[in-house]
Amino acid sequence: MLNKTPPAFGHDWDPDRARGIIEEFKDLEGPLLPILHALNERFGHISEPAVKLVAEILNLTRAEVHGVVSFYHDFRREPAGRHVIKVCRAEACQSMGCEDLVARLERALGIHISDTTHDRRITLEEVYCLGNCALSPAVMIDGELHGRATEEKVLVLVGGRS
Ligand code: FES
Repeated sequence: MLNKTPPAFGHDWDPDRARGIIEEFKDLEGPLLPILHALNERFGHISEPAVKLVAEILNLTRAEVHGVVSFYHDFRREPAGRHVIKVCRAEACQSMGCEDLVARLERALGIHISDTTHDRRITLEEVYCLGNCALSPAVMIDGELHGRATEEKVLVLVGGRS
């Protein structure tokens, strides 16, 4: 099969590929963030083996790498669910009820924001402005923008409740 689209939740861990990514960015000034972004994009999260490899190659402690990974919300610590719902919580969406939407989705899915359902079907995340303010509240589902979001609409788009 040609041109297979990478899964939204990332490829399986591959230490050789990870090493290649790290080597590619390691000579940049301030290489840690670009490396973590590239690894997160490739594997869908920053696993413990990834932290270890980054620390080893950049000559940092694992605690230093962990510190950066946990500081930035962009990096996942574990694989995402099959569907990723990102709810915008920035100003325009706040004024159109995104907090109520978050609360409803948390209740419907039985998880909190930043968590994944126990069956690993859905991950619920927050973002701050999706550039879709005119159609707030805005969400992104599996990389696709949707405006005027409601609990019902979001749940239909991910195929029902968890
Ligand atoms: S504030 Fe939500 S899309 Fe801009």
